[in-house]
Amino acid sequence: MDLHGWSWIDLVLRWVHVVTGAAWIGTSFYFNWLNNHVRAGDDLEPGVAGDLWSVHGGHFYRVVKYRVAPERLPKVLHWFKWEAYFTWISGFCLLCVAYYLEAGTMVVDPTVADLTRWQAIAIGVGTLVGGWLVYHFACKSPLGRMPELLAAVGFLAFTGLAFWLTRTFGARAAYIHVGALIGTIMAANVFFVIIPNQRVMVDAMIDGDAPDARYGIEAAQRSLHNNYFTLPVLFIMVSNHYPMTYGHAWNWAILAAIAIAGAGTRHWFNLRGQGRRNVWLLPSAAVVIVSLAFVSRPKSFADHAEVPFAEVRTLIDRHCVTCHSMSPTSPLYAVAPKGVMFDTDTQVQSLAQRLTTQVQSGVMPLANLTHMTQAERDVIGAWFAQGAKLE
Ligand code: HEC
Repeated sequence: MDLHGWSWIDLVLRWVHVVTGAAWIGTSFYFNWLNNHVRAGDDLEPGVAGDLWSVHGGHFYRVVKYRVAPERLPKVLHWFKWEAYFTWISGFCLLCVAYYLEAGTMVVDPTVADLTRWQAIAIGVGTLVGGWLVYHFACKSPLGRMPELLAAVGFLAFTGLAFWLTRTFGARAAYIHVGALIGTIMAANVFFVIIPNQRVMVDAMIDGDAPDARYGIEAAQRSLHNNYFTLPVLFIMVSNHYPMTYGHAWNWAILAAIAIAGAGTRHWFNLRGQGRRNVWLLPSAAVVIVSLAFVSRPKSFADHAEVPFAEVRTLIDRHCVTCHSMSPTSPLYAVAPKGVMFDTDTQVQSLAQRLTTQVQSGVMPLANLTHMTQAERDVIGAWFAQGAKLE
């Protein structure tokens, strides 16, 4: 299939992924909210822990939450699992189309590590499978009964993984694999633990036995983990738009810091739902983000000599136009990637900011295939800082 065909497959997969992901996280947020807002009352049926009234779309709803389970199961019981499964399936297909299909340039970065494309794919898939197994057995081990310690160890393990991946893959692929592992753990939690455990409980009830609370506790543990994963994973999934994060020399640490800000924000909402007001979590998350903006600020070129445009033109012709042209000469691309073209000087000027960000963060030239040096990157940075003029 040609590039055009693959672009449409990419489009459909990404669309499905965003829609199912929104549905999954939406239901997850909704049930979390429900849990926190059902209120106990005197006039409730026996076995009911609390109820809640809401109005939405012109209709009134009343939801009751059972302490364990109703005495008799209703004919129709809704399960929530397909949004999780389809998010993972579409996400994995997208990983294959957007990254593994062009693994030589999209995953491998020879300036980071010299891998063949198949080695890169094996490391990528191995990370997802291995990461899930390590997580799963850590939860089942005695560590799993110490939630705070498990969270701390898990955070350090993910940070270590991010560090290792950014020294193994190109920066964007490294980020996306951390996100893909978190997404895999979340979906596998639903598939291998939450749903089967609920099944066991429901089956016990059908047989007229009391459901074993152990299964419920294990499912709740995984559900809570998924809850804290949501904000960090959503950032990683859109991180591609922010080269100042993944393109930075400390990209792994920036990822860890953003994950803390995200999970901390989630924690604030969880506390609030339980009626506990916290004053320091949100301001701390804001301080983390502002500090990151400061740490990742662009280099200053105040002392750099005046750069004539001709010098920039030469660099762009040498390093970029093979791909970014009306008629690319690179065998990799038949049309200019992302429609970005640098054939004319005005094109260069009008794209000056995007171009400079990509070059400064080291993301472009792609996989540094055209061997751009740091001094050459600084020439572009200085030209932009001096006003991106054409004379
Ligand atoms: C080997 C081919 C290749 C070379 C050489 C190359 N690029 Fe790219 N460029 C790409 C691809 C592929 C993408 C799209 C990446 C993606 O899917 O996000 C891209 C995307 C971009 C974008 C758009 C990113 C965005 O979304 O804002 C800019 C800007 C860019 N390149 C600038 C440059 C500059 C400047 C150079 C030279 C210093 C360069 N590229 C060299 C392949 C290349």
